[in-house]
Amino acid sequence: MAAIEGENMDWGMSNRLSRMIKPSTGRSVMLAADHGYFMGPTHKLENPRRMLEPLLPYADTVAVTRGVLRTSIDPKWDTPILLRVSGGASVLKEDLSDEEITTSMQDAVRLNVSAVAISIFVGTAHEKQSLVNLSKLVNDGEEYGMPVMAITAVGKELEKRDAKYLALACRLGAEIGAHIVKTYYCENFRKVADGSPVPLVVAGGPKLNTELDVFNLVYNALQEGAVGVDMGRNIWQHEYPVAMIKSIRAIVHEKATVKEALDIFQESKGKSK
Ligand code: R5P
Repeated sequence: MAAIEGENMDWGMSNRLSRMIKPSTGRSVMLAADHGYFMGPTHKLENPRRMLEPLLPYADTVAVTRGVLRTSIDPKWDTPILLRVSGGASVLKEDLSDEEITTSMQDAVRLNVSAVAISIFVGTAHEKQSLVNLSKLVNDGEEYGMPVMAITAVGKELEKRDAKYLALACRLGAEIGAHIVKTYYCENFRKVADGSPVPLVVAGGPKLNTELDVFNLVYNALQEGAVGVDMGRNIWQHEYPVAMIKSIRAIVHEKATVKEALDIFQESKGKSK
């Protein structure tokens, strides 16, 4: 894992990254809500505004597409935006890797986002295409001072979430020039983090059985080198999404243990849904 090397970066790039990864802790709670770009009206995210509004005060960044940004997030809200700019496949296709860049850098700047995000599909039929997409996005990002996040997508092959594969995919993303990489937590995650010269955040993946499982994932990922999470379903598909994000924040920013996070969860769930 690497810290943000502000002095080696363009001011705008460094400033945008600092809005997302908080300089006070070097960490970030990103709220992922970009699933609709290939999954459609995902369970509990059918109405993005309704789900997002109570959670935004607790998110350091929210990840969405431009369609959801324009329709479902008030422009007066100041949560930094991580804009999903790749797409082109849907869950109806067996192979999800056939993506292109779907949103221009000019539009990302116009929307005043803090970073753009694109999936890379290492080891798939469209590996080269997705890596070249990333390189084009980084070239454009460098011109505009826009950080780029590479997302090490596994498509439907969830079993790919192991250290050997993810270390390879994260490193490829960083080598091409991504400023931050989103990946999955896995056994031996330290190996993935050690091999990445840029900061890593972890996704949550499909909803886990208990909040204990989620807090363990977050806690272990941070211990092993992640700078935070970019998490969706394990927050907003939970019965108590606000309590979930508050507890995750405590682990990420206040070094809370899993036990402390569970206490915060129990206390918060009584107050809000
Ligand atoms: C997929 O659509 C996106 O990359 C998600 O943002 C990512 O998978 C994180 O969301 P979750 O925690 O639900 O896996």
